[in-house]
Amino acid sequence: METLTLVGCQFGDEGKGKIIDYLSKDFDINVRFNGGENAGHTVVVGDKTIKYHLVPAGFLGAKTVVISNGVVINLRKLVEEIDFLKQFKGNFDLKISEMAHVVTELHFKRDKYLEQLRGAGLIGTTLKGIGPAYESKFGRYGIRLVDFRDVNRLKENLDLLSKIYQIPYDEKYIDSLVQDYNQIKGYLFDTRSYLETELEAGKTALFEAAQGTFIDVESGTYPFVTSSHTTSGGVTVGTGLSPKYFSKFIGVAKAYTTRVGEGMFPTEIFGTDADKLRKLGNEFGATTGRPRRVGYLDIPMLRKAVKLNSLDYLALTKVDVLGKFDNIKVAVSYESNGTEIKEFDPMHGPDRINYESFKPWGGSEGKLQDYVEFIQDELGVPIVLIGVGEKRDAIELNGKMVLT
Ligand code: IMP
Repeated sequence: METLTLVGCQFGDEGKGKIIDYLSKDFDINVRFNGGENAGHTVVVGDKTIKYHLVPAGFLGAKTVVISNGVVINLRKLVEEIDFLKQFKGNFDLKISEMAHVVTELHFKRDKYLEQLRGAGLIGTTLKGIGPAYESKFGRYGIRLVDFRDVNRLKENLDLLSKIYQIPYDEKYIDSLVQDYNQIKGYLFDTRSYLETELEAGKTALFEAAQGTFIDVESGTYPFVTSSHTTSGGVTVGTGLSPKYFSKFIGVAKAYTTRVGEGMFPTEIFGTDADKLRKLGNEFGATTGRPRRVGYLDIPMLRKAVKLNSLDYLALTKVDVLGKFDNIKVAVSYESNGTEIKEFDPMHGPDRINYESFKPWGGSEGKLQDYVEFIQDELGVPIVLIGVGEKRDAIELNGKMVLT
């Protein structure tokens, strides 16, 4: 049984889209298992840029793409995304779990309301209704795609949601939801059973997490997190498959660190250096356009990500960007109360950070290799893929993965 689960090692925006796109051609099936349209997995195809928000980023490469039960779906967005993607691949096989929850306009309003309520302590969400959609899922008043089979049930569910949130909705809204539903109805499936059957029959699958390890609702810098499981543990509940199907894990890390929204960021940099790195890496949110906070690579953070996700392999992205930056530093350990700390703790920021400096490598392969080897040695995990440019095929192989 060959499966590979891919996760982000930092705060999201690690460049997962490009790595998934690259890997997907070697897999029969590509599955997205968490989050919603808060994600924006970017792939540059020729002179066009695809930003996958809900559809798996291996859409072009894998034979079948699956949106499993752990994803929360804004139907309008999904319809638009499928329409947009048709120009790149006319004959595609998409399967969507009927168990997936739907993000409604009430969830959008609730997201905005909760952020306003927090005032200065706001999370800085993408305002795409993601937290509320999971909140209603776990509160047992969510709306699933299966509820659309019966419009009366759908209406009852919306009424309950409206009462709980104290937010009214217009009856016409149901019609527009149903209209969108009708456009995706043909893709609905029992994806859990489908995946189980296919994997047992020897098909291969790539599972992709959205967002990054340290905005996981359990393991991240709570409360400055998203509301889903972004770590490798999320793949079992997010697909409904038992853990026996997952044994190999790859983490994607950017050669430096970025974060959108609020929350702890030990290696963050400010001022002109930050502006320069942000500009070099075009670090603006794929979903919201917000400027991303930027900082140095944080090895203690990656050490923790390796353990939390059981990583077998790493992909390092945007090394070309960092190679142009003239002040390259890497956090190798922290200090707190005079004691050296080797691993990131999402609950407590460090007092001090110990850095090592590197010379910019520009186009020098040798110097880049030193950087890659340094990270590999520190983490004890092979870096098998290196992202060296924006274009789809700007990837260097640095070793082989064994998935069985
Ligand atoms: P939410 O997921 O919209 O609720 O936002 C919660 C936090 O996660 C905010 O700090 C967002 O900026 C962050 N976030 C959500 N999705 C992504 C993503 O795809 N990449 C990076 N950060 C994200």
